[in-house]
Amino acid sequence: MEPGEPPKRAEGRRGTAHSTRGQSHGDVHLYASPHAYQHLSALLLKRKRHLLARERPQSSGAGSHFAKDGFSLPFTGCHTTFREPCLHEIRSSDKLDGTLQINGLVGILGRTSARGYRAALCTELGQPLQLRDVPSPPLRPHQHFCCCLNGKIYVCLLLFLQVRVGVHYCGLNFADILACQGLYQEKHALPFTPGMEFSGTVLETGENVRTVKEGCQVVGVTGTAAMAEECVADQKMLWRVPEGVSHEDAAVMPITYGTATVVLQHRARVQLGETVLVTAGAGATGLALIDLAVNVFKAKVIAAAGSDAKCELALKRGASHSVNYSRSNLRDEVKRLTDGRGANVAIEAVGGDIFKAALQSLAWEGRIVVMGFAGGKIPSIPANLLLLKNVSAMGVYWTRYQEEDFPVFSSTMSSALQYCQEGKIHPHIGAVFKLEEVNEAFNHVLQRKSTGKVIISMK
Ligand SMILES: NC(=O)c1ccc[n+]([C@@H]2O[C@H](COP(=O)([O-])OP(=O)(O)OC[C@H]3O[C@@H](n4cnc5c(N)ncnc54)[C@H](OP(=O)(O)O)[C@@H]3O)[C@@H](O)[C@H]2O)c1
Repeated sequence: MEPGEPPKRAEGRRGTAHSTRGQSHGDVHLYASPHAYQHLSALLLKRKRHLLARERPQSSGAGSHFAKDGFSLPFTGCHTTFREPCLHEIRSSDKLDGTLQINGLVGILGRTSARGYRAALCTELGQPLQLRDVPSPPLRPHQHFCCCLNGKIYVCLLLFLQVRVGVHYCGLNFADILACQGLYQEKHALPFTPGMEFSGTVLETGENVRTVKEGCQVVGVTGTAAMAEECVADQKMLWRVPEGVSHEDAAVMPITYGTATVVLQHRARVQLGETVLVTAGAGATGLALIDLAVNVFKAKVIAAAGSDAKCELALKRGASHSVNYSRSNLRDEVKRLTDGRGANVAIEAVGGDIFKAALQSLAWEGRIVVMGFAGGKIPSIPANLLLLKNVSAMGVYWTRYQEEDFPVFSSTMSSALQYCQEGKIHPHIGAVFKLEEVNEAFNHVLQRKSTGKVIISMK
């Protein structure tokens, strides 16, 4: 089916749509293969802001609904259909007991490229990544599909504004390692290519992409797939690399500086002259936090890290004081360094006992931001500690702003890139590994040997 062309009528089980209106309960039933259905709902939920439905019903039969913000259809059905290349059919199934039927077809027609590229693949959780040659997927054109609900036909359009980028550098994040171990909050179907951020050159743009063109230098964010020579991203997840900013520095901006910006500005609302405690202070996000807190927010930073060498580095990068928490008591040291007052803000990335010590290090009306659990233990918060000093505890999950508050998400990227161009901040790249050394890069971070950001080079 070409985009825009109306869906064809059903012709039995291999048909593209299957009209069974009135077969049971006088209603229309939901028929779709689980695989195609999953694919469809994932697309719909991901692209919900682009979903245009001609008419949106308020309610529908049991187990299905058009959600307020999108389209959601819990599904009970049957066959798997996922035909390559590029045509996803929703096929009819034999048995369904719902009161809704979707008769639909999702056409994904596109140019298959003869080109291929190298990618790091996670084929088994917790195992080393494999380097493979994979074919370049076609960019998706818009998709039309129709569904039939209580006898009415709805025609929907999904807009895809995809861009193919030749990746120069991909940032390695602790989250990539967790994802490849199956321990990250977002799970990916195997096999998948990790990598959530990249810098590179635009190779190809999909229809209606307006913000970038072939040859543009960009930095971007994806859920996965950037640890490869090529990746495909939505146009709105790409930003131009400003003049004078290197591709290495650009690749460091999204997750570490994006998170650091949202933490300091949007969550903790750090004020001029406040004292900020940063744990895992010589890590990628730790050093970005120090850089921004000192050079942009004009705060004082106490960096806490697990070795003297890491403490030394944090001091060199702008921290006023450091605490080696592998051999001293973090709470006592912070109290000592602040003349007994405590820190105004603690940004905590380790978890376990370090979290508790950071919480106890806070001053009156202090704020603690839960950023991560690199040590592997998710702590509990004793509520009495919040009460005693009027402390606020809050979390941060930067990538979630993509869905919940895109302007905030995007502004963190734009401002980080601008600070970098203006020379206000200076990313610290601790190590560059080649794509074929990706497993060494993972081990380097896992074994706590890394400082600052580790990036993967595709060259
Ligand atoms: N919520 C968000 O949006 C967000 C965004 C970015 C990162 N994060 C999280 O923040 C944490 C730090 O991320 P990052 O990218 O900055 O990581 P990183 O550069 O790899 O730093 C992690 C640091 O954690 C410390 N650490 C303590 N115990 C550890 C252990 N058992 N294994 C490994 N490291 C351990 C190490 O520093 P020391 O040796 O000095 O203790 C290590 O250098 C991670 O948990 C990550 O998932 C969250």
